[in-house]
Amino acid sequence: MPYAFHDYHPPAEDLLGEVLGGLARRPKRLSPKFFYDRRGSQLFDAITRLPEYYPTRTEIGILQQRGEAIAVHLGHDSVLIELGSGSPQKIRVLLDSLRPAVYVPVDISGEHLRDSASHIARDYPDMQVEAVCADYSASLQLPDLPQQAARAAFFPGSSIGNFEPQAAVSLLRDVGEVLGPGGAMLIGVDLKKDRQKLEAAYNDTRLLTAAFNLNLLTRINREAGADFDVSRFAHRAFYNEAEGRIEMHLVSSCAQQVCIDGQHIGFGAGETIHTENSYKYSVEEFRELGAEAGFEAEQFWTDPEQLFSVHCLRVAG
Ligand code: TRP
Repeated sequence: MPYAFHDYHPPAEDLLGEVLGGLARRPKRLSPKFFYDRRGSQLFDAITRLPEYYPTRTEIGILQQRGEAIAVHLGHDSVLIELGSGSPQKIRVLLDSLRPAVYVPVDISGEHLRDSASHIARDYPDMQVEAVCADYSASLQLPDLPQQAARAAFFPGSSIGNFEPQAAVSLLRDVGEVLGPGGAMLIGVDLKKDRQKLEAAYNDTRLLTAAFNLNLLTRINREAGADFDVSRFAHRAFYNEAEGRIEMHLVSSCAQQVCIDGQHIGFGAGETIHTENSYKYSVEEFRELGAEAGFEAEQFWTDPEQLFSVHCLRVAG
């Protein structure tokens, strides 16, 4: 079956506006959702295969090991909505165990989404594929979907950790609304653990995470007409234990000025742009977050080393 493509992508002005807004703040910041242009998505795929980056392979292992139990909770023949259609490997494991009637990948990267939707549509010919290009953090707009089928959501990769806890609650609330009462959500959440293991995952020796972080500036140069000298910024990532999060920054190596759309923005030597947080949650902490968003904790699965968790939460009521 050919796949359908629904483009709800925000217009280009959003990028410029958000970039200028973020750089006007103190400390300066940039939204991580802009990481995922074509190059960013490719780098991210490569990061997920790095030895230091344990979350992806650990989550896939859990999905493989627990496929049958997961299918019991999420059901077959559902409408399966995937937020951030990141990893082709993960979704295939899940599609194989769930066999949904309709698969709705939602992703902000249109090119990446077209690639993966076409491959999935080819390999799962009996499944309807409705690809949605959208910024799900802004609004979870979906095309018309069958009303009779049970709905389930898949939110892998601990992407929920990239939102501030309050924003995470409101995003989960939106997901709950799309699912409706009784709908199930399968969500991957990275667990709190020792600093060394966490920091190594975001400071790989091949410098792919650095390239991924710096690619944000290259993208802003291209799409917002900026003139960042990428060689004058460095990647920095560390665990902020008090906040329970990995922070990623781009550090200006010298005093410099950058011009974006006619505006000059000054950077001090050592000044940082905060580009991303990755919150880590204990099982209990995450269950509380889900409860705040109207979900009941149903089950969770983890790996033998307790590196990563996959939760099944159900919309209450
Ligand atoms: N959400 C995942 C995490 O926080 C994946 C991810 C997002 C990531 N941005 C990243 C991984 C930047 C490495 C670097 O781990």
